[in-house]
Amino acid sequence: METLQFPENFWWGAATSGPQSEGNFKKQHQNVMDYWYAQAPEDFYNQVGPDTASDFYHDFQTDIQLMKVCGLNTVRTSIQWSRLIDDFEKNTVNTEAAAFYSAVIDAFLANGIEPFITLHHFDLPAELLHKYGGWESKHVVDLFAGFAERCFALFGDRVKYWFTHNEPLVVVEGGYLDQFHYPKKVNGRAAVQVAYNLQLASSKAIAKYRQLKQDGQIGIILNLTPAYPASQAKADIEASEKADLWYNRLFMDASSKGEFPPALVELLEQEGVLWQAAKDELTLIRENTIDLLGVNFYHPNRVQRPKFSPKSLVVDFRPDKYWQAYDMPMARMNVDKGWEIYPRAVYDIAKDIQENYGNLLWYISENGMGVSQEERYLNADGVIEDDYRIQFIKEHLYWLHKGMREGSNCLGYHLWTPIDCWSWSNAYRNRYGLIANNIHTQTKTVKKSGRWFKKVAASGRLELENDIIE
Ligand code: BG6
Repeated sequence: METLQFPENFWWGAATSGPQSEGNFKKQHQNVMDYWYAQAPEDFYNQVGPDTASDFYHDFQTDIQLMKVCGLNTVRTSIQWSRLIDDFEKNTVNTEAAAFYSAVIDAFLANGIEPFITLHHFDLPAELLHKYGGWESKHVVDLFAGFAERCFALFGDRVKYWFTHNEPLVVVEGGYLDQFHYPKKVNGRAAVQVAYNLQLASSKAIAKYRQLKQDGQIGIILNLTPAYPASQAKADIEASEKADLWYNRLFMDASSKGEFPPALVELLEQEGVLWQAAKDELTLIRENTIDLLGVNFYHPNRVQRPKFSPKSLVVDFRPDKYWQAYDMPMARMNVDKGWEIYPRAVYDIAKDIQENYGNLLWYISENGMGVSQEERYLNADGVIEDDYRIQFIKEHLYWLHKGMREGSNCLGYHLWTPIDCWSWSNAYRNRYGLIANNIHTQTKTVKKSGRWFKKVAASGRLELENDIIE
């Protein structure tokens, strides 16, 4: 048996978001997901929408107590722009919503849990999409910075860790290339502009934070997916480098170094789709980098040379014309979700941050294993025995610890998610929580993984019994 010791003040936590947990109670405005559900409920698994979610709006006091039972010392959730603000142009605050978020923050603190707050978790107010074209518009960028400023002013006395966006790349890909998020467009040029605008919005929010001189830290949450080449052949390696630029370096470089990767800028220029950027905006991006990076990691990307030459004549630009997904034979899978399990990638990410990003402060902000119909694993005491999840977490922690031992500045590990929550079009298909939620009764029960997590968090010790697959 091997025991790994984590630092004393390590962040043992979990992440969720406002739109996925609160439910739409007393909300004045729809966000894009609410709107999408109202238009096309059939796009959502079992037609379950965000109306109730896990009812954090009413249950937050008891939910937070359950999080404490799981040993969490830090939890990330988000403030919904579409709840907090009454008039987006005037940036006026809804007092009931402000009181709600304030009470949530106080409840976290009263239970010894440090709240981490995200400002945008895929939940743009629908009105801003309809009026201005959403993230395609720089006016929306400015409105977002204003909303961020309101949040800092209202809650910055108690919230010390802020994050501008969650997974901006998912907004770009889901909304403007692959149609798995609203507005479900397919438009490469718009995708590139949206990517830029999201970065600008993040940097502008950071600039506001700096102006207020509050005593916390601000960062961004990026889904990093190392792009492993299918072989060592030159064409496969080149494909992986291009994929890496798009999937990882785009937001990573801009957020932490203040500059977009020159190779990506050159490629987009050659393609004739480079974003519209003003000089003063690029200066603002350069001057407002993050204090802290959150890394969401679920699965790696395996890529190979593209099937067709990137010089083929196509009308619309797509970044993935430079590579193609590669299904590695004998990949180890979470078969239920269809994602490869490759915990070693966490080590590769840790080393990349250490070696190529000035060893900046970071943490794992999401990692987790989505499984459907977990009632299959209910024991006689009504507890879900999710040993697969415990194994999944253990293996990722093992590789994280190795990276930290070698000097990577990782501050914590957050699981997705504390309590089973609603997840966009997948709704309640994949359960990720340490705490189960019966969505018909809103009964919440700690899973076996929740009790296990508490032990690890309380001692900072991870016990391994030859159960790591290298
Ligand atoms: C993450 C997102 O990428 O994946 C979450 O930040 C999301 O918002 C989670 O819920 C799991 O997604 P899914 O669709 O597998 O349930």
